[in-house]
Amino acid sequence: MSRFWSSVVHNLSPYVPGEQPKLNDIIKLNTNENPYGPSPRVLAAIAAATDRLHFYPDPRAASLREAIAARYDVAPEEVFVGNGTDEVLAHTFQALLKHDAPLLFPDITYSFYPVYCRLYGIRYEEVPLDAAMRVQIADFRRPCSAILLPNPNAPTGIALAREAIAALVAEHPDHLVVVDEAYVDFGAESAVPLVARHDNLLVVQTLSKSRALAGLRVGFAIGQRPLIEALERVKDSFNSYPLGCLALAGAVAAIKDDAWFQETRARIMANRDSLARGLAGLGFEVLPSAANFVFARHRSHGGAHLAARLRERGVLVRHFQKPRIEDFLRITVGTEDQCSRLIALLSSLV
Ligand SMILES: Cc1ncc(COP(=O)(O)O)c(C=O)c1O
Repeated sequence: MSRFWSSVVHNLSPYVPGEQPKLNDIIKLNTNENPYGPSPRVLAAIAAATDRLHFYPDPRAASLREAIAARYDVAPEEVFVGNGTDEVLAHTFQALLKHDAPLLFPDITYSFYPVYCRLYGIRYEEVPLDAAMRVQIADFRRPCSAILLPNPNAPTGIALAREAIAALVAEHPDHLVVVDEAYVDFGAESAVPLVARHDNLLVVQTLSKSRALAGLRVGFAIGQRPLIEALERVKDSFNSYPLGCLALAGAVAAIKDDAWFQETRARIMANRDSLARGLAGLGFEVLPSAANFVFARHRSHGGAHLAARLRERGVLVRHFQKPRIEDFLRITVGTEDQCSRLIALLSSLV
């Protein structure tokens, strides 16, 4: 604390990211990274881009927006890119979610959302998940300014069908619905095809998970032009160059290498399903996941206890000390070998 702090800083409760330890020899299943790494074409494209480092990057990120637009069958003007989804979300909060009525999001969800609300002074209300930890879109029928929803939800991993998102968007024609699809590529249905029909829908995705580029920091949003223009107005009032030339080159190559994307996400989904079966066999309740993590609780061992025992043995998983979910562990789906080592360890602990 310091007398130089503004009142805004005094009132912040910053987001606490998962641990990034420097230790070798750990099995890191705590931050939903992709264990297979990015496409070799990404590494080649980044190496080739190093001869442009003395120039500023393209502030419009035209090559990346065109690649994303071609991949998702939208116009480049319907695409916004930023330094990770976190930055895209931050601009979304400021540009589109700050109104008089409260913003709605689930009570169990990505814990960065309330942090942005406090940073930007946005009123919000949390809508409880049902007893099965599912989002019920009927529960969002209440006065609000906008709705924000991850799909699949995090940290539960449970996805809504595109039909349910379509119903939510149609039920709230005068409210913006933001769908955070950070994990959509691991088995959920994207809402991007709905964007053409709905001016109140913004879909946000990341290259951190299914394209294994968490370290490059690239995220994007797809929506109709006025929404994208709002995000650009905020971005150009904050930082014209959120993506450096290496990030732009790597991200374009990642979007274009569909074969790598398909192969690695299929492996992760297969590993997830066998991990879930292994956990169930050890007495865990495992929520049905469409993400690259599973959310599971043991019938007789608490989440904090298990996370601590695993940590002592060199395995990091995520535990949230939060009402309703303190018994759960969020376990990132690792390689085949990492998943079997985890199951072997857990079988000695439970
Ligand atoms: C639901 C959700 N949205 C957004 C993000 C941020 O992703 P990025 O790495 O693109 O900032 C995460 C990261 O874990 C997430 O879980």
